Amino acid sequence: MKVIGISGSPTKDSNTDTLINAILDATGAETDFVKLSEINVGPCIACMKCVDTNECVINDHFKWVSKKVMEADAIVVGSPTYYGAASAFTKAFIERLYSKRHVKLQTGGKLAATVAVGVAAEKMVAEWMGNALRAGGMEIVGSMTAKGTPCCFVCGPGETCNYTVWNAYSKELTGMDLGVEEAYKGYLELLPDNKPYAHGSAKFLKSYRSVKDEPYVMDEARRLGKLIKEKIKNRSRKAGDLKCGC
Ligand SMILES: Cc1cc2nc3c(=O)[nH]c(=O)nc-3n(C[C@H](O)[C@H](O)[C@H](O)COP(=O)(O)O)c2cc1C
Repeated sequence: MKVIGISGSPTKDSNTDTLINAILDATGAETDFVKLSEINVGPCIACMKCVDTNECVINDHFKWVSKKVMEADAIVVGSPTYYGAASAFTKAFIERLYSKRHVKLQTGGKLAATVAVGVAAEKMVAEWMGNALRAGGMEIVGSMTAKGTPCCFVCGPGETCNYTVWNAYSKELTGMDLGVEEAYKGYLELLPDNKPYAHGSAKFLKSYRSVKDEPYVMDEARRLGKLIKEKIKNRSRKAGDLKCGC
């Protein structure tokens, strides 16, 4: 029983990494964790040279990562939310899975789970990753999201900035209520003179947000890991049943 975790977060010990690892641990399986920012996996170049062989011809680290993916019963893909989308590391990796997909659907039947961390648009990212992996014939066991540290908490200039991520996601700018203020209660207080993209001011109540401080988020990761474990077990049980019948 093998499960591989793939993180598209370039931040050291990030929330994405923490959640993927909690899921992996809860599977009780032989696991592997790959941090895409520490290796070299570029985007698909649409050369279609993988059509007959299902092998990507680009000479980078996708060669060994894809081998690990193919050996695994399940794959857990996690990404931070950048510009409302998955990180470029995650996107490049998922694009490259195309080589395993077409004609023979070599990733067909694998189990998958997705994790997305962000300030406001992380649900869209988890959903997109799920759709992409499903297109590779994988069965999505579950997906989870969590709130992370807004980069504006740690970028440096401090609490007055007109263009902060919460102002970028404000109702005034987007016309939608994405609930950032509510979600960051206890971490951030928007001051009355804050006017998105005109005059920004807020107070940081806590600078970092770690999923390790949020037991219900960590529990959700463990639940997802256990679900993967059960699914893998059920599959091998069924495969065993089939053998016994002959
Ligand atoms: C380049 C960049 C763009 C970002 N864009 C968004 C965004 O569009 N929406 C969002 O919710 N968070 C955005 N963020 C914030 C990250 O999603 C947030 O810091 C998250 O906690 C990162 O997860 P990680 O710590 O697991 O890497 C952005 C961060 C960076 C560095």
